[in-house]
Amino acid sequence: MRIGVFDSGVGGLSVLKKIKEKVDFADIIYYGDSINSPYGSKSIEEIQELCLKIGEFLIDNQVNIIVIACNTATAAALDVLRERFTSVPIIGVVHPGATMAIKQSKNKKIGVLSTPLTAKSGVYKKVIKELNPKYEVFQKGCELLCPMIERGWESNEKNTELLKGYIDQLPKEIDTLILGCTHYPLIREEIEKLIDKKIVDPAEETAMYVLFELNRLALKTGVKKIRKDRVNIDYFVTGDIKKFKEVGERFLGEELLNVYQPLIG
Ligand code: DGL
Repeated sequence: MRIGVFDSGVGGLSVLKKIKEKVDFADIIYYGDSINSPYGSKSIEEIQELCLKIGEFLIDNQVNIIVIACNTATAAALDVLRERFTSVPIIGVVHPGATMAIKQSKNKKIGVLSTPLTAKSGVYKKVIKELNPKYEVFQKGCELLCPMIERGWESNEKNTELLKGYIDQLPKEIDTLILGCTHYPLIREEIEKLIDKKIVDPAEETAMYVLFELNRLALKTGVKKIRKDRVNIDYFVTGDIKKFKEVGERFLGEELLNVYQPLIG
């Protein structure tokens, strides 16, 4: 079996990491569209177009499931992708994140840090309210965080100041904070130093959804789940491969071996 995972860059590695911990019988193709990053400052139409191209790439590479490891792409293109690629299940990160936050929050007040597009789309509020209308959701769009993480968090001297500026704009009464951009788990420790709330990383629950779908697929099709000693991961990166490897290796704590430039981008 083969899992296709994509993001606008290194952020989706936070999802890949959790999938790797839970699924040991499928290889992974990771697509990081860093040349077009950040998605969060683009229009919905632009993001949909980029995501359709990536979807085609992953389907051509025979994946059995597509994971949109990007909140912005989930907000902008989940429905379009599901409509176009009907042969495989497609999983986004917002529903899993919303479900987890509802389980965590006691006072029913949830904050979300995300890209401007995700915040503007109101997707977390919509999904959480659909699951339980009693919850209040406060979203803050953080324009500069994703590009800073993509470039390497330490390379900006004002990083803590900027992060604090965003966090301070969330209402104090929230008891739970969703990391509503898959890049943010890469700086989770920095966030935890600045805010004392329950932190939800949607990647954890997303990996559970992936495991569930693959088990279902195996039952339905009779494909055998063969445990691997080492899951093979191929990385396709449209932008700067060196930078991707540097940031990715630091986060995953291992060498990224098979990193390629895809033919589209
Ligand atoms: N990791 C993406 C997300 O979860 C960042 C999108 C961007 O490139 O702005 O939203």
